[in-house]
Amino acid sequence: MKDEVRVVLLTGGSSGIGAAAARLMCEAGMTVYAASRSGKAPEGFSGPGNMHPVVMDVNDEDAIKDVVGRIIEEQGRLDAVVCNAGNGIAGPIEETSIEEVETQFRTTFYGVVKTIDACLPVFREQKHGRVITISSVAAVAPLPYQGFYSAVKAAVLNLTKALAIETRPFGIQCCSIMPGDVRTGFTAARKVVQKAQDESSPYHERTVRGIAAMSKDEQEGMEPEVIGRAVLRQLRRRRMKAEVTPTFIYSLLVWAIRRFPQSFVLRIIGKLYS
Ligand SMILES: NC(=O)c1ccc[n+]([C@@H]2O[C@H](COP(=O)([O-])OP(=O)(O)OC[C@H]3O[C@@H](n4cnc5c(N)ncnc54)[C@H](OP(=O)(O)O)[C@@H]3O)[C@@H](O)[C@H]2O)c1
Repeated sequence: MKDEVRVVLLTGGSSGIGAAAARLMCEAGMTVYAASRSGKAPEGFSGPGNMHPVVMDVNDEDAIKDVVGRIIEEQGRLDAVVCNAGNGIAGPIEETSIEEVETQFRTTFYGVVKTIDACLPVFREQKHGRVITISSVAAVAPLPYQGFYSAVKAAVLNLTKALAIETRPFGIQCCSIMPGDVRTGFTAARKVVQKAQDESSPYHERTVRGIAAMSKDEQEGMEPEVIGRAVLRQLRRRRMKAEVTPTFIYSLLVWAIRRFPQSFVLRIIGKLYS
């Protein structure tokens, strides 16, 4: 089958969701280029299989082009890209500096754009290719004290859907996966904005409480393999879905958030996290 997925580039492949997805894809017989800044093998991976850990910062356009070029040279094809690398910042919107907003968008949005941009010419030429982005339930559930994280994930979700329309004539498929809480290093890596760390901040107490509640939910959340399996499932489908929220409970949550009056939704989220 011409558009069978055999060779995949995955960003953020050294840990968490990316590592789980990389392991599962490799076990399924795919050749996986697992990219990260460290270039470490996906955690928990002990082979066998066609796993290629690569050093690639998604903010470095030249590095991305080099990796895509290397894949074509070595494999003669690239069937899918999974844009997973990302991070989070936390803090009240008023107290987040523009530099901190830019930091949130750098890897988690522009990094996705740069990675996709490097793959699209290959996909168009091949007349097939798949783009999977890892968004979040936070794309539809506006999280207080993670407002910019919610904004960046909403941006990733809508970008993926618009891309699906634009690239369909070229045989390219796009899907955005929206995980809920997942137990990974994401929680520990999250940075709190500078101003909110000051105890005299009017938001300080609520921010600390809100972040503690969200961190607890993440650390009690699902295993990254749940999301890894969702990625693999889409790569194996003949036609990928445009949007996937893994697990019944989170897909029900997303359904409810989109259908209930937004003032009611915001009150509930506020009770949980503010
Ligand atoms: N955990 C959750 O509850 C949750 C929920 C919804 C969505 N997500 C999303 O899932 C994705 C993966 O997160 P995770 O939970 O698996 O977190 P994680 O364990 O912290 O993994 C992040 C991965 O991204 C890589 N990375 C970070 N910056 C990078 C860069 N500039 N270039 C290339 N790679 C980079 C990291 O490796 P290096 O440090 O070696 O670069 C690591 O492999 C993120 O987009 C996150 O927003 C997570």
